Amino acid sequence: MIVIRQLCRSFSEGTGVHRVLDAADACIEAGEVVAIVGRSGSGKSTLLNLVSGIDRADGGEVSIGGRIVTSMPEPERTLFRREHLGFVYQFFNLITTLDAEENVRLPLELNGIRGAAARRRSAAMLAEVGLGDRLHSAVDRLSGGEQQRVAIARALVHEPAVLLADEPTGNLDEETASQVLRVLLSLSRSRRTTLIVATHDLWLARSADRVLELREGKLVSGEGGIERAPTRRSGVS
Ligand SMILES: Nc1ncnc2c1ncn2[C@@H]1O[C@H](COP(=O)(O)OP(=O)(O)OP(=O)(O)O)[C@@H](O)[C@H]1O
Ligand SMILES: [Mg+2]
Repeated sequence: MIVIRQLCRSFSEGTGVHRVLDAADACIEAGEVVAIVGRSGSGKSTLLNLVSGIDRADGGEVSIGGRIVTSMPEPERTLFRREHLGFVYQFFNLITTLDAEENVRLPLELNGIRGAAARRRSAAMLAEVGLGDRLHSAVDRLSGGEQQRVAIARALVHEPAVLLADEPTGNLDEETASQVLRVLLSLSRSRRTTLIVATHDLWLARSADRVLELREGKLVSGEGGIERAPTRRSGVS
């Protein structure tokens, strides 16, 4: 479970201060798929960077599975992130000097899993995202959708408890985006990985278990996920 409590983050702006997160609260269950929505600049990336411990909060806390990430010293946070979290970004962030399989294997090696066992796992993970025949392709020769599927395989190969995705389809055309989202959602659900995804994609927001909207620095319930849609419709008719 992820608990976000009274989370604050401001940035100085000229002579003033821009409060991006202003006592944001949320509680996310293990295995839940949560879409974070909000206008551009509302703080979605800022929030994900605090949950992942890449950035430091000014106040409040984030705990993941009972561990308070916001108060961990940096070396411990790095290890926690490496072991328990996975990331998918808008611009893939693959390492172009490594092939697809080597990119996916990297998180395993960082967690001390090496050799044939690591190669087997990364190959199996690439097969799960539909790239079992592209193990040794140079990643910059792959299409955008294929690169993002490599990134999803890399994010999940070490079986993290939590997957954080920041606009994972922001750089893809509509059809490719929907393929990538299907992969992302089906793998997160089948592995019971908690998925927190910042997105402008309405289909993704509708497919999530829950939508949280960032508004004036706070997290509020957004437009419902698929589970709530029938209730709302029946209430109207
Ligand atoms: N390192 C930083 N220094 C100064 N201001 C920052 C920094 N990071 C973010 N901000 C500001 O915080 C606000 C929120 O930015 P953020 O990137 O979190 O928005 P977002 O919701 O992810 O937007 P988008 O949908 O465009 O990705 C913006 O006004 C941005 O300029
Ligand atoms: Mg952003």
